[in-house]
Amino acid sequence: MNELQKLYPVKEQAKAITHIDSETYEKLYQQSIDQPEQFWAEQAEKFIDWVKPWDEVTSVDYKKAEISWFKGAQLNVSYNCIDRHLATKANETAIIFEGDEPTDDTRISYQELHDNVCRMANLLKDRGVKKGDNVCIYMPMIPEVGYAMLACARIGAVHSVVFGGFSTESIKARVLDADCQVVITADASVRGGRHIPLKANVDAAVADCKDVHTVVMVERTGASVNWNNERDVNYNQVIDTYPAICQPEIMDAEDPLFILYTSGSTGKPKGVLHTCGGYILYAAMTHKYVFDYQEGEVYWCTADAGWITGHSYIFYGPLANGATTLVFEGVPTYPDAGRFWQVCEKHKVNIFYTAPTAIRALMSLGDELVEKYDRSSIRLLGTVGEPINPEAWHWYYEIVGQSRCSVVDTWWQTETGGILITSLPGAVDMKPGAAGKPFFGVKPAILSKEGELLEGKTRGRLVMTGSWPGQMRTVYGDHQRFYDTYFSQYPGNYFTGDGAKRDEDDFYWITGRIDDVLNVSGHRLGTAEIESALVLHPAIAEAAVVGYPHEIKGQGIYCYITLMCSSHESDELIPELQEFVAKELGRFAKPDYIQYAPGLPKTRSGKIMRRILRKIAENELENLGDTSTLADPSVVEHLIENRIIHE
Ligand code: WT7
Repeated sequence: MNELQKLYPVKEQAKAITHIDSETYEKLYQQSIDQPEQFWAEQAEKFIDWVKPWDEVTSVDYKKAEISWFKGAQLNVSYNCIDRHLATKANETAIIFEGDEPTDDTRISYQELHDNVCRMANLLKDRGVKKGDNVCIYMPMIPEVGYAMLACARIGAVHSVVFGGFSTESIKARVLDADCQVVITADASVRGGRHIPLKANVDAAVADCKDVHTVVMVERTGASVNWNNERDVNYNQVIDTYPAICQPEIMDAEDPLFILYTSGSTGKPKGVLHTCGGYILYAAMTHKYVFDYQEGEVYWCTADAGWITGHSYIFYGPLANGATTLVFEGVPTYPDAGRFWQVCEKHKVNIFYTAPTAIRALMSLGDELVEKYDRSSIRLLGTVGEPINPEAWHWYYEIVGQSRCSVVDTWWQTETGGILITSLPGAVDMKPGAAGKPFFGVKPAILSKEGELLEGKTRGRLVMTGSWPGQMRTVYGDHQRFYDTYFSQYPGNYFTGDGAKRDEDDFYWITGRIDDVLNVSGHRLGTAEIESALVLHPAIAEAAVVGYPHEIKGQGIYCYITLMCSSHESDELIPELQEFVAKELGRFAKPDYIQYAPGLPKTRSGKIMRRILRKIAENELENLGDTSTLADPSVVEHLIENRIIHE
């Protein structure tokens, strides 16, 4: 451990108000492991209002990938996020909306949230949406994205939010995979002053989706759009005609709540399915404990609703706890790189949760833009998405948090529904770069590649030996894939896809994905997805994509391409291909570097040896490893000579 990674005991004034100190944590944790049924039953009673209690707390069979929590219980998630708070909080702020322009903000009370969600729910019903139907949501970060999600939850429809940065092709694939008949969108989104035509993207995406009968459009910018009278509904023109009351549908705990697509190591994203009871309990409980949320505090998670972080920690968790949650439409660098701190000062943010990539980007622009603003309201800082490098941790802790706030690292995944490993504030001391210790009820273990259980201080593959309520239940429409992806490698365990080490104090450190999944600015991307996009271009015969360490983004995208005809190599083709991928997948997937590769390093059986490609992209040539099994070792020489050396 180097100087930057030493232990930071939580300071007196930054201790959790919830009063979980290290002793209480150890005690509660042990209890949650020794008597899980009793532990989870107590939490379920404490955090959630149930219409009917459960028959059985949990039943889990990892051999069949069958998981259930609170079977037989009934509830409604939107009721838990809204209605039950009305008696005491009708006029308190549920959502603070901060628009792209600093002058644009509004507050939405719990009563207004209720009325807006009910109206949206009634509109959806009017268009024929019923319990169990899947609804696609492709929206900017405006309050209506929350209304849409909660409206679905209210009537028992299953939402599938597609990130607003995704392209037409990605929307289409997701609409088709989930058989969505209704899409909710906006005319356009605005981020950093840049307009993105969401409605036009949806129009193009659903042109070939014959089952889509309704596109609901919220007006955000007033941009002119194409209109299909039969299919399209203008939200702003009709919403006031719908009543502000809508009875919440009674749902079984194991009824689906939402589908969210995420990248894996194959070309096709998986529809991660979460169910009502376990998910909302886990989101609420982790939001309360990990962020030490207190009544009346302002909580801000900078994620987008299109990712799981936005689902669990902008909307579901905070609203289930009756919190005030900030919804931010813009980007950290507009109008300038002081925006985050300006918003913290303006809305007196108490808890701030963001990604290491954003911290690094802002850190590189200096301290002045931070120090200009009053950050005294902030009491807790969180990070998520990738390991935080100690330099960025220190900047966050010392400059942003003035060395007085706890910094909580939170390790989790789309699949886990909520945070599994974290430095629980006040309870687990902070080690810059370590994810921390397991949350209550969570049982991590480290296995060797061969599946042997490793004890003590060690390094290997991270698995969970048991279940927790927020765990995904299946891959939508493909249960076999659920089993194959997570339970087949190490029977009896949930395999995370991450490598990890455990140190002498039992802290977990995530070392990164061990599969072909990249983490680019906190966005998860399969190399196979980028390869599939590249080979759609007529000039390309074959492509291989790897990640390399990138100072701001965590990982950058490095592509090797073999052309149909090598005489087509040109300087213009590279930017064209970069744009091509950005258009296929979304801007965040735009390759950083593309290298011409007349041949790729393959084994005699035709398998591309990515290990070698990764080393070349990283410019680490000493350690290429064994190349003798290659069908044609000379291709490596050519790739090395023509490699692109980045700053
Ligand atoms: C992957 C999951 C759910 C959070 C947003 C990303 C990496 C996530 C951390 C962290 C180190 C992290 C892992 C994980 N990751 N948080 N605190 N420290 N790595 O969700 O898109 O499903 O990606 O993100 O590699 O497997 P996701």
